[in-house]
Amino acid sequence: MSAANKPKIIALAAAQAGGFGIGYKGHLPWKCPADMAYFKKTTQGGIVLMGRVTADGFPKPLPKRENLVWTGSDTYRTGFHAVKTFDQALDFARERQAAQLFVIGGAKVYEVLAPEVDELHLTLITPRGMLYSVDTYFPNYAYANHFQRQRSELLTDPDDQENDKAELIVFARPT
Ligand SMILES: NC(=O)c1ccc[n+]([C@@H]2O[C@H](COP(=O)([O-])OP(=O)(O)OC[C@H]3O[C@@H](n4cnc5c(N)ncnc54)[C@H](OP(=O)(O)O)[C@@H]3O)[C@@H](O)[C@H]2O)c1
Repeated sequence: MSAANKPKIIALAAAQAGGFGIGYKGHLPWKCPADMAYFKKTTQGGIVLMGRVTADGFPKPLPKRENLVWTGSDTYRTGFHAVKTFDQALDFARERQAAQLFVIGGAKVYEVLAPEVDELHLTLITPRGMLYSVDTYFPNYAYANHFQRQRSELLTDPDDQENDKAELIVFARPT
C-alpha cells in the first residue's frame, strides 16, 4: 500500500483515570455524555473499526458511520461489515477515499493496532463517586513510549457537580 492514500489511523478510547479501566462485562462502565458527544462529533460521517466483542455490546450499528467489525468469522450482523484483517479495513477505507479510519476498541484491538495508530484521543474519566468496577483495560504499555502529548481539553464543565470529570488528551507519534 502506498503511504499517499493511506488513511490517518485515529484511536479513540475512554479510560478511568488511574487504572486505565475501559470496560465491564462487555459494556462501558459509565455513562459520560460529554465524552459521547466528543466521540460522536469526531467519528460521524467516517469509518469506525471495532473488535467483535465491542460490537456485541452495541444493540445496532453506530448511526451515520460505516461500521467495520474485526472478527475471525465470515459474517456479522446486518449493518456491520466483517473484516478478518487490518489490511481489509484499510482497503475498505481506501476504496472510499477516506482521510481517516477510527479505531474504537476494545482492549485487544487497541493493543494489536498500537503500531498502526497515528493519533490517540484518550479521554480520562474521573468518577465523582466511587471508582467503577472494570474488567478490561486500555493497553497503555503498547503506547507509552511511542506517543507524545499534543493537547488536552476538559470536556466537562468545571462547575458540573453531577457528572464525572472527563479530560481529553490527544497524543501523536513524533514526526
Ligand atoms: N472505554 C472505551 O473507550 C471502550 C471502547 C471500546 C470497547 N470498550 C470495552 O472493551 C471491552 C471489549 O474489549 P475486548 O478486548 O474484550 O474485545 P475487542 O477488542 O472488542 O474484540 C476482540 C475480538 O476482535 C476480533 N479479532 C479478530 N482478529 C483480531 C486480531 N488479530 N486482533 C485482535 N482482535 C481480533 C476477535 O473476534 P472473534 O472472536 O469474532 O474472532 C476478538 O475476539 C468491552 O467491555 C467494551 O465495552 C471500551
